[in-house]
Amino acid sequence: MKLILVGPPGAGKGTQAKLIVDKYSIPQLSTGDMLREAVANGTDVGKKAKAVMDAGNLVSDDIVNAIVSERLDQADCKNGFILDGFPRTLEQAEALSGMLSDKDMRLDKVVELKVNDEALVERVSGRYTCGNCGEGYHDTFKQPAKEGICDRCGNSQFKRRPDDNADTLRTRLMAYYKETSPLLGYYFAKGDLKSVDGMGDIGDIFNSIDNILKSA
Ligand code: AP5
Ligand code: MG
Repeated sequence: MKLILVGPPGAGKGTQAKLIVDKYSIPQLSTGDMLREAVANGTDVGKKAKAVMDAGNLVSDDIVNAIVSERLDQADCKNGFILDGFPRTLEQAEALSGMLSDKDMRLDKVVELKVNDEALVERVSGRYTCGNCGEGYHDTFKQPAKEGICDRCGNSQFKRRPDDNADTLRTRLMAYYKETSPLLGYYFAKGDLKSVDGMGDIGDIFNSIDNILKSA
């Protein structure tokens, strides 16, 4: 299964990707997570990306395309992958198309998560993740079963992202509408796009995605 999840910041791409990983045993390729790791490790890419990410803007296509191309060559991507947050511009979409044909791979589906703008602000401002395994939580919508303990790995340290604040979210949303939303038309025209209502319960949304994947 080779899949792209597309949607605005806070739409639930990461949340749904983790559920797909569990069911289909394919890796989640989140360019946001890869870039945050590069920032944390102080690599050259991380140094270039940090200020851009903190401001809520998009990192350059060249940097992101190179990261994804390298990641797709790893053995665990042979049977499939979930691209979470890539591509985000038409140039990235064209680059991905070239990468896949060079690597003799074919995309199965592009799934759009549709969420109201007002809900995104609430989701992003309440988000936190496990500092060990990256499991996502929310102050209101998804708390660990045992307070302060990660459901997935038992760790007790959590973190919040520096770009999860109302001001930066506005910039991220603008980047989504200006640069990423044209991809919906692009993939619809290619016949690959399926849209899912991302406003309901996390499990119900996963079932809708799963039905699409089963028919791919
Ligand atoms: P990235 O990390 O991809 O951030 P994003 O696109 O802004 O998306 P988020 O991770 O914020 O949201 P999500 O859709 O994953 O939502 P989640 O599941 O966590 O990118 C960060 C930055 O990196 C970019 O701004 C850019 O600078 C750079 N970057 C990354 N990729 C790039 C690229 N390709 N090109 C250039 N630059 C790039 O859910 C959010 C919250 O809501 C959670 O708390 C969750 O528990 C909760 N939630 C989820 N679903 C539901 C639900 N159904 N009901 C209630 N709550 C829910
Ligand atoms: Mg995410």
